[in-house]
Amino acid sequence: MTVTAQVRPATMSSSKPSDSAKKGLFVVFEGVDGTGKSTVSRMVYEQLEAEYPGRVELTAEPTDSWLGECVRRSSAEEVTGAAEALLFVADRAEHTRQIRAWLNEGKIVLCDRYYFSTIAYQGAALKASMGAKAAVEWLKEINRPVIEHPDLTLLLTMRVDAALERLSSRGGKTKFEQLDYLRDVDVIYRALAMEEPKLHTIDASRTSVEVAKDAIRLIKNNI
Ligand code: TMP
Repeated sequence: MTVTAQVRPATMSSSKPSDSAKKGLFVVFEGVDGTGKSTVSRMVYEQLEAEYPGRVELTAEPTDSWLGECVRRSSAEEVTGAAEALLFVADRAEHTRQIRAWLNEGKIVLCDRYYFSTIAYQGAALKASMGAKAAVEWLKEINRPVIEHPDLTLLLTMRVDAALERLSSRGGKTKFEQLDYLRDVDVIYRALAMEEPKLHTIDASRTSVEVAKDAIRLIKNNI
């Protein structure tokens, strides 16, 4: 079993208190496509909801709102990488209001993707035009005003080619799901894991039951 806690200086984590008087717990699931993140977050939701009835919310980005629809549409249209990044952040700005409301009610909020997705995916997409470092810095900057800092981020990691294999066996690929691109995404995720103290990596090459078990253990350490 490999669960690696990374304890290093943070770049996005804030020592300042959040502007919400938060009582709940905010947990984010991250990972490249095919790591099983959505399956695992649903399993974790079901198990925690059984233990803490009415106290758990499962949400995801892009959202189901009209802003989330704009994000999905931008994936199908030819928009610039910068425009696409700004759409993801706009969707997040509204989503964060809902997340804060749940946290203020004392809920455990499980979120399938949040701002690390933008840094990793749009960082990889903007690498060619902006340079990787400048892209990541810009993406951190535009996210800063619209995010709630997660109490815990669980990054599901495995070999990218194996993750992609899982996806192709399910059928259907988006432009986000190409190997070289996802390798760049993975590099940025792993760099974030080195600098973010509240980001834990979980070996996702195992069964979803094993991965969910580790996730629940890490979440319970924070409840
Ligand atoms: P999903 O497969 O987890 O529903 O996510 C949809 C796609 O959107 C996935 O390939 C990752 C991508 N994405 C970004 O590129 N940036 C983001 O900020 C988010 C939230 C998702």
